[in-house]
Order: sequence, then C-alpha cells, then structure tokens
Amino acid sequence: MSEDTNQQRPEDLISRINTVYGNFDREIELIPDTSGSLEDSEKHLLEVRNLRIKYLGKKSELAIQRKLIRSIDPNRRGEAGSNIQRFEQTINQRIDDKERTLKNSIEKARLERESIDVTIPGRRGRQGHLHPITLMRQRIEDIFVSLGYAVEDDRETETDFYNFDALNIPEGHPARDPQDTFYTTEGFALRSQTSTVQIHAMQRRGAPVRMIAPGRVFRRDTPDPTHNPMFFQVEGLCVDRGITMAHLKGTLQEFVHRLFGPETRTRFRPSYFPFTEPSAEVDYSCFNCGGPGCRICKWSGWIELGGSGMVHPNVLRAAGVDAEEFTGFAFGLGIDRTCARIYELDDIRLLFENDVRFLEQFR
Ligand code: DAH
Repeated sequence: MSEDTNQQRPEDLISRINTVYGNFDREIELIPDTSGSLEDSEKHLLEVRNLRIKYLGKKSELAIQRKLIRSIDPNRRGEAGSNIQRFEQTINQRIDDKERTLKNSIEKARLERESIDVTIPGRRGRQGHLHPITLMRQRIEDIFVSLGYAVEDDRETETDFYNFDALNIPEGHPARDPQDTFYTTEGFALRSQTSTVQIHAMQRRGAPVRMIAPGRVFRRDTPDPTHNPMFFQVEGLCVDRGITMAHLKGTLQEFVHRLFGPETRTRFRPSYFPFTEPSAEVDYSCFNCGGPGCRICKWSGWIELGGSGMVHPNVLRAAGVDAEEFTGFAFGLGIDRTCARIYELDDIRLLFENDVRFLEQFR
C-alpha cells in the first residue's frame, strides 16, 4: 500500500471525532447529576468513571485517531492535532464537572443518613419488676427476720427420709397419700412440703433454732383454680427450752398483725399433722370485711393461714435434738394462696402462667 492511498485527511479525522463526541454527549447527558438515594449516586459516579475510560482511555476512539495523525499530510497535522486536543479537553472537563457534582451529592446524602436527630424523644427501656409471689415472700421474710428468725433455703429434690420418715410419717402412713409427689427412679422425689427443712435446719444448727424456709413444693395435683402441681410454702420452726403453744399463738398473731394490720385476729382450730402434737389450723380475720363476711372470705369472716402445732418429739429425735430438753413449735403457710387472696385472684394458675399483661399490674 502506497502512502498516498493510506493518507488521512484532517476533515475525515475531525468528522470521526465529531461522531465520537456526539456519542459521548448523549451518554453523559443520560447520567443524572443528583438522584434520590446514596446508592444511586454511587452507581452514577461509577458510570462516569467508565465513560472516562471509554472516551479518554488507551483504547478509546480518540486515542486511535491521535495515532492516525502521523498519516496526515505534515502540513495539515497541526490542524488535526489541535482539534483532537480540543475535544479531549472538552470531554475531560465535562467528566470532571459531572464527577464533582455527583461526589457532592454523595457527600450530602451520607451526612443526611448519618445525622442524628437529637430532638426525637428517646425510647424508654422496659423495666422489669418482681413477681407478686416474690413480693409476698419478701414481706413474710421481713417480718420473721425482724422477730429473730433466720431464712433457710434448701433442696427441692428430697429423699423419703426428709419428706416423710423424719417427719413422723412412716411408710404406709395414710398421710403420705394427699402428698403424693413426683418420684425419680433413684429414690429421690420432689419435696411435697417445706417441712423437710425443719430436719435439715436442726441437723445443721442443732437446738435452739429459729428459722423460716420459703420455697417451692410439688404435688401430683391436677391444675384447677385453687390447685397447681407446683406452689410455694413458707415453713417456720422455733425450738428452744420451754417453748409452749403460747409462743406459737403469739408469734402467728404478731405475724398477721404486721402483714394485714393490727386489728387482725387469729383463731386456732384443732387439727392433725403427723409431725406436730397438738396440731392446729390457723385462721385470721378477713382483711377485707374484718368479720361480717364478704366474697373474699367466702362469707365466713375468716381466712385460712396454714397448719401449725408443737413439734412432735419423734421429729426432734429424728433430727438429733434432745426431746427431753427442748420443745418447739412449727407452722407451714401457703405463700401463693395468701397472695391470691390479697389480690383477689379467682384463679391461682394466673400466678404461674407468666403472662406479662397480668404480671405488669404488680409493679
Ligand atoms: N407441711 C404441711 C402441709 O404441707 C403444713 C404444715 C402443717 C407445716 C403443720 C407445719 C406444721 O410445720 O406444723 O400441709
């Protein structure tokens, strides 16, 4: 091929560059300066950077045309060169401008996203509170602690010895029946009464001893409005020289005064428990009506507090206490039962369902 046939005319070169510029113009106009989201602006900035590569990069049409200058008549090369340069500058300028605007809107969008409106009201964290049974237990503990009682906490899984035998309930004794509980194959059972702690406490501390033991107990009961297979009792035990029934009556009298008010009366009804002799059921005058009868006391004027009595000598002996030297009284009260009465709950199971809409009322 001769030089002549291959020779370029500056007009052709300029017209090709014009076409390229036209394409560039269309493409860059399609990219908006600002747009809604930060993500959109970032995407557009990337598009602009690609345009720079496409129209000014090493493989761009402009670069190809620049190489062709060599094949132009030397006299006219300057004209072609300056044309290419002008287009190059214009494209560069427009890309720079576009980039700057997009970077600005990205910066603005970022600031907006990261800004914190300090005038928006804060969200308050939900504050927890104690369960009504815990509140009740603490009130009971406070009263007995102020009377000089220690608070004992003991195991919920027991052997027959602590749950029955040591409490003067030998195997085959009918008193085991209503306290049927949950047994394991290893000879352990869930305690059916907190009376078990009487034995542990006397074994640990010897006599004299004054303690209460609040805690969970378990029985094989079908749940209904007044029964639950798991419930709470508080056991009380006072063993010393010369303790009599008068001490028992005085102590429980003082307890109900402090819990329900000084006008509250108590009443002791003869009863039977294997671990006490004599035994008594304790009632207190209704905290709501004070006697005449109302819905809460089921129209009797009295509410049952629990069982009590003078500790049976067999129990003292089973726990290693000298029954000739020491006497004592004991009592067992239902915490959830009392709780349900005070709050007028028709169904004791409400206390164990853990429905926050119910529990929230006891903050
Ligand atoms: N343990 C008995 C029960 O669960 C309650 C009880 C009665 C406890 C008399 C005592 C007591 O300490 O003296 O039914």
